[in-house]
Amino acid sequence: MTIISDDNNIKNKRREKNPIIKNESIEYDKTFENSIRPKTFEDYIGQTALKETLKISIEAAKLRNKPLDHLLFYGPPGLGKTTLAGVIAEQMGADIKITSAPSLERPRDIIGILMSLKGGEILFIDEIHRLNKVAEEILYPAMEDFSLDMTTGKSQTVKTLRVPLPKFTLIGATTKAGELSGPLRDRFGIIHRLQFYTVAELTQVIKRTARILDIQITEEGAKAIAKRSRGTPRIANRLVKRVADFAIIKYDGVITEEVASKSLDTLNIDEFGLDTTDRAILNLIIDKYDGGPVGIETIAAALSEDVRTLEDVCEPYLLQSGLLQRTPRGRKVSPEGYRHLGKKPGNQQQHLF
Ligand code: ADE
Repeated sequence: MTIISDDNNIKNKRREKNPIIKNESIEYDKTFENSIRPKTFEDYIGQTALKETLKISIEAAKLRNKPLDHLLFYGPPGLGKTTLAGVIAEQMGADIKITSAPSLERPRDIIGILMSLKGGEILFIDEIHRLNKVAEEILYPAMEDFSLDMTTGKSQTVKTLRVPLPKFTLIGATTKAGELSGPLRDRFGIIHRLQFYTVAELTQVIKRTARILDIQITEEGAKAIAKRSRGTPRIANRLVKRVADFAIIKYDGVITEEVASKSLDTLNIDEFGLDTTDRAILNLIIDKYDGGPVGIETIAAALSEDVRTLEDVCEPYLLQSGLLQRTPRGRKVSPEGYRHLGKKPGNQQQHLF
């Protein structure tokens, strides 16, 4: 399997704020992520139901000697959408080209990549909800009929030329399925949501990563990190590395429950896995807006964050864990959210910011 990656947009992406788990050098982070990425379904932990249906679709496609149907994966970031695309390619014995919608700005970007595909190859487009209209329209016939509609000439003499493409499989990934246009969504044969991971699954992910990093870890140590990983393997893996540094430098090299808990406390990751930004969101809503509801733009402006980071990175887990609620009039902190911060509804505090 060859992976051809075009991650310009990742380099240019706004660096997120949390210094611990969201603001590593992105280059370095990608190398680390790639080195621990599982390559097979056996190594890929979690998403059990999805894996089973994918295995069947892959076997059926192989049996018929046909490419796999186009697939769309959606769900919060860090749950393994790119990793899964790599596993599928491996299982199909196919090459994969990895790109993302912001790198496909000009028609020639998408045409170029489509024309470069070989038969049976997989094209992975991350953040596919950000594809522009022109690129989308080029994709429609490519997905449906494996062809490109090219126009030549001007006004009266304009001619449309149908250029055949090799049969390929498009795997799209998005954190925002709702922002995908209907016609594009309809062209995917298989659509799946990736779920947050359980503590037990993350414990396995963490033990596997520790093994690859050659770091000793106890079951309780792995579980302590898992509990603070927000249901997300990408976060779990970053935390293992951080805690491993503490274990080596400050302790005797083994990640035990105590080492994990003390290190994560020092890193300001609380028992729910919330970091400074997550807690700042909840504190702001409680202290300045009496618990909400308040609009996401107002929250973003007050915290000097961008709306997309809050919506894509922070909010999914706050909502999922029931600390935050989304209402038609904005975001509200739930009673659990108050409890988590040791605050009481109605006790407005004005002094924190
Ligand atoms: N690393 C990131 N995601 C993983 C997964 N689902 N299984 C194993 N290791 C992973």
